[in-house]
Amino acid sequence: ATNRTFTMLKPDAVEKGHIGAILEKISASGFRIVAMKLTQMTKADAEEFYAIHNERPFFGELVEYMTRGPIVAAVLEKENAVEDFRTLIGATNPADAAEGTIRKMFADSISENAVHGSDSDDNAAIESAFHFAGRDMF
Ligand code: CMP
Repeated sequence: ATNRTFTMLKPDAVEKGHIGAILEKISASGFRIVAMKLTQMTKADAEEFYAIHNERPFFGELVEYMTRGPIVAAVLEKENAVEDFRTLIGATNPADAAEGTIRKMFADSISENAVHGSDSDDNAAIESAFHFAGRDMF
């Protein structure tokens, strides 16, 4: 079925000037952008967004990274969006990511891995609502 996923082009990808190239790849892969903005997360935002990871040793580093500069937040629509987008971005660790995936092409390390993709339909809805009002999703 057609469904939606949520993505962020993370601060490292924005800093390196990869917004255009990554959006081109997302569009060429059949995803329709239904919401998008350049924004910057506060510390409180990142702590809430990544609350599931708050016991992990890398949590502080993750919050620091995700708040250090602007991100592109977007909601994407496609047949089988959540699963297909995770295939398109590749493994969490770019060293393990398949050839041609966004993380293989644009990410340098597991901690700074260029792009986020929701891991379930439920989380896609929660994460989209975190960043966008209903009237800003088309
Ligand atoms: P993502 O899977 O999108 O969401 C959780 C993020 O935590 C992950 O991307 C990485 O940015 C970060 N992360 C995951 N594992 C590690 C790790 N071992 N060390 C540092 N950061 C990590």
